[in-house]
Amino acid sequence: MNLTRLVYYSQRNPSEHMDVTALVETCKRTNARTNLTGFLHYNGDHFIQVVEGGRLEVSALLLRIMRDPRHSNIIIMSFGDVRERMFPDHPMGLHQGMTAQTRKAFLRYFSTAQVNPETVNVDNLLDALQDLSLEAAPTKLTISV
Ligand SMILES: Cc1cc2nc3c(=O)[nH]c(=O)nc-3n(C[C@H](O)[C@H](O)[C@H](O)COP(=O)(O)O)c2cc1C
Repeated sequence: MNLTRLVYYSQRNPSEHMDVTALVETCKRTNARTNLTGFLHYNGDHFIQVVEGGRLEVSALLLRIMRDPRHSNIIIMSFGDVRERMFPDHPMGLHQGMTAQTRKAFLRYFSTAQVNPETVNVDNLLDALQDLSLEAAPTKLTISV
């Protein structure tokens, strides 16, 4: 069975209420049902999200996410088959804010802590997000076979 990974960037819609903790709780419940895993970085202004799972399930979620009024200006940075999950332990891990630790993780892989979604190297971005995910509390995911 194939495994697909989506990486996208979007900007928060300031005119819509955003409770990111509640959003991630919904993600965890919904994603666990379809064996989706991933990671969400939210700095108060924009999101970077990684979703991993079946091609059909990732596609269906992407279509829902694109209709969500809480964000806009979505840029798909990567969508394709991968050999293994980089975020296997989180139905949706969350990293919020731009702390000294966040900057350190980004500066490990980039020349500046500002990520430009139009030009960023996605492999480097995934490495930075994976480092940040190690700080997020893992949520147990049971995958039925
Ligand atoms: C930045 C962002 C990330 C989201 N990530 C997910 C996700 O990983 N899983 C999910 O089920 N919904 C996610 N959502 C919520 C969906 O857009 C949508 O509201 C939810 O899946 C319910 O869809 P429905 O009302 O069409 O059933 C996300 C929304 C935003 C704004």
